[in-house]
Amino acid sequence: MKASAQAHSNIALSKYWGKRDEKLILPNNSSVSMTLDKFFTVTTVDFDSRYSIDSFVLNGEKVGEGQEWKEVQGHLDLIRSMAHTKAKAKVVSNNNFPTAAGLASSASGMAALSLAGSKAAGLNLDKKELSILSRRGSGSASRSIEGGFVEWIKGSKSDGTDSFGRQIAKETHWPELRMIVNIVKSGAKKWKSRAGMAQTIATCPYYPVWEKTAQKDSDTMKELVIKKDFSAVGKLAEFNALKMHATMMTTQPPILYWHPVTMEIMQDIITWRDEGIESYFTIDAGPQVKILCLEKNEHKLVRRLNDIKGIEKIESCKAGPDAKILEKHLF
Ligand code: PMV
Repeated sequence: MKASAQAHSNIALSKYWGKRDEKLILPNNSSVSMTLDKFFTVTTVDFDSRYSIDSFVLNGEKVGEGQEWKEVQGHLDLIRSMAHTKAKAKVVSNNNFPTAAGLASSASGMAALSLAGSKAAGLNLDKKELSILSRRGSGSASRSIEGGFVEWIKGSKSDGTDSFGRQIAKETHWPELRMIVNIVKSGAKKWKSRAGMAQTIATCPYYPVWEKTAQKDSDTMKELVIKKDFSAVGKLAEFNALKMHATMMTTQPPILYWHPVTMEIMQDIITWRDEGIESYFTIDAGPQVKILCLEKNEHKLVRRLNDIKGIEKIESCKAGPDAKILEKHLF
């Protein structure tokens, strides 16, 4: 059976960095994200007993080895075991934005694969089950099944059945909020988050501080998003991101995602803020800077960002929709 799905990427306002269970992908703390309207993955999965092997084409290129291939194959195995089938699959997937560059392509990618793959395998999963399945592919993917604003609840059970993404506010909740995504460098990142976070836990002397404070940040962020308290959301998002990057930088060997242009944008945001244009930044496992602002300052900020040399692309996003099944297939 063949099925197609579209899932949007999400950017965490309070982050996840570190697992308590590597295999089931269970986090040390909850996190809160905003789903983005402009960045998404479309995936078609076809399970057919006539296929002798699994195959995967990403953005028009065949992927037959490496980490990405292993992760997709592992995810197909998981779907097969849930659906009690041995059929191999053909997977074709397109991202409408740079892959593996700190723009949450693994989140939208694994969520789209989970939705299309489970449907193609004849499973009829609800949102919670889909989020849990997506989480097994990539932690942040648990937050890409639902749109708007989502909390990935850390859970406490060892089987992971209470660790999933749940919408805290709809796509229409905060129409004035914008996230301006600045693509500084679109090449794939040097440090994959999976290996990076394990290395941080193993070697960073400040990780215990992160562990002690990240849960509270997430709980507070959830309340602030519900209240639409822009200044408080922005301040906490920025602080939380810098705290996470401080643990990355003090990992051994160091994990340094920032480029000179990343720094330049951060410095400018702080300067412009002092001039009265209120905005805040957040950064993930890559050099891209995502800026939180309100609609009234969006165009002013985009104009100023356009003057910075070294930004490849600027996309101003609103909160995006739920993942959905598509009737049109990619093959
Ligand atoms: O789930 P992953 O492997 O894509 O890791 C996500 C890590 C961060 O983007 C840095 C933080 C987050 O919560 O999205």
